Amino acid sequence: MNDTAYVRELAALAPIIPVLVVEDVAHAVPLAEALVRGGLPVLEVTLRTDAALDVIAAMATVKGARVGAGTLVTVEDVAAAQKAGSTFGVTPGSPAFLIDACLEAGLALLPGAATATEAMTLQARGFEVLKFFPAEGAGGIKTLKGLSGPLPMLSFCPTGGVTPENARDYLSLSNVVCAGGSWIAPSSLVKAGKWAEIEERARHAAALPR
Ligand code: 3PG
Repeated sequence: MNDTAYVRELAALAPIIPVLVVEDVAHAVPLAEALVRGGLPVLEVTLRTDAALDVIAAMATVKGARVGAGTLVTVEDVAAAQKAGSTFGVTPGSPAFLIDACLEAGLALLPGAATATEAMTLQARGFEVLKFFPAEGAGGIKTLKGLSGPLPMLSFCPTGGVTPENARDYLSLSNVVCAGGSWIAPSSLVKAGKWAEIEERARHAAALPR
């Protein structure tokens, strides 16, 4: 099933999806609590650390958190992310085998696209909200503006190079529903347990207009 309604619901919850790289499962709950308190309940946990699946499972217990798995690149990632308690997945790109696996698993998906052809391929499969990745590297705001004319049915979550400085400009675009970024909870702050600072960063991000 292609759960566009759930992805739209997630995108509407907050303007920013924090992209998280967490190495220690002990950090999972306090980090998720800080982000939810700060107004960012949708959390993308990248599958780039050995602890990531345990982190997803722990964060899924936090009230109000909507936890998803990022960096899904293999069929095995899809099954593992779902088993750990992810309610959605995020992919950097959209090879057919991976999209097939997510659809077969019934995992709501924010699939990655960087070009018109990739976006159109996903649109043909029923996806309406796409991750635009890597946002800055793929032309950023200019590319998104260019896509809005011929592909008005598509909405994007730009991720990759989105910063507190340019987030406002991305969010002002008609075809941007939210954006992803790692600046809210960078590894340095997570490792140091700076939950109050992360909450403050989340609060600022949550207040961004769109
Ligand atoms: C990533 O690849 O980690 C995400 O796209 C986040 O990118 P960022 O660090 O530029 O926000």
